Amino acid sequence: MGKIIAFINQKGGVGKTTTTASVASGMAHLGLKTLAIDLDAQCNLTTSFGVTDFRANTYNTLKGELGLESTKIDEHLAILPSSVDLSAFELEMSAEPGKEYLLKELLESVLDQYDYILLDCSPNLGLVSINALTTADLYIIPLLPHHLSIQGLTKLLEITDKVKKRLNPGLEMGGIVLTQYNNRKVLHRDIAQVVQEHFGQKLFKTVIRENISLAEAPSSGTDIFQYAPKSNGAEDYLNLTKEIIKL
Ligand SMILES: Nc1ncnc2c1ncn2[C@@H]1O[C@H](COP(=O)(O)OP(=O)(O)OP(=O)(O)O)[C@@H](O)[C@H]1O
Ligand SMILES: [Mg+2]
Repeated sequence: MGKIIAFINQKGGVGKTTTTASVASGMAHLGLKTLAIDLDAQCNLTTSFGVTDFRANTYNTLKGELGLESTKIDEHLAILPSSVDLSAFELEMSAEPGKEYLLKELLESVLDQYDYILLDCSPNLGLVSINALTTADLYIIPLLPHHLSIQGLTKLLEITDKVKKRLNPGLEMGGIVLTQYNNRKVLHRDIAQVVQEHFGQKLFKTVIRENISLAEAPSSGTDIFQYAPKSNGAEDYLNLTKEIIKL
């Protein structure tokens, strides 16, 4: 049975998509059958894999208009792309009974085909993100080492607690991963210490360093392991992938 992991943080630009794409590719490189799902109407995960030719996307499959036809990236990795239409989903589904369970229902039929299903959430804690948390076994929070990021965590953890209580008792925090980290910046080291003191074991040992190759890879339509296999980004994300597999 595939383990479902949501990468979530309502703060924008913290590395949710970069982390989902890189961990998905890292898992596939390790021979694990992986499905990455783009749950953001910005479609950044979709474009970062260079996927353009597809029928099924998260909008039309969640609405039940098409079945879950994923797009194959390589032998081990597939993606369910997104569509800009997904931005209307919440409004359109406002009166739908069980609207928080639509993704869970959709994934039940494919769970046994994958080792991991990774969900790239949008920077918004609306219905699509609630669907992600309702179906996930674990959630992982990419976090920028800034003071404001820590403030946003409280709100996020309130939501994950409510989802656990009301919709998905099996939901657990997989961990917090610091992204775009620069060890030479005092602020970054300070924040890492604060998060470590607060969350202890839940802070991943791997920190994702600031690395230009990670910012460049999406425009090449390939993953960091193909784009720059010797980069710090590839090294960090392989280490993070191995930590996640051990959870
Ligand atoms: N470790 C890193 N070093 C340098 N640049 C990075 C790193 N991680 C991500 N980036 C860049 O930072 C930007 C934001 O990253 P990303 O799109 O992954 O964040 P996000 O949380 O998914 O954003 P959104 O909330 O808009 O969905 C992107 O341009 C990305 O290429
Ligand atoms: Mg994103």
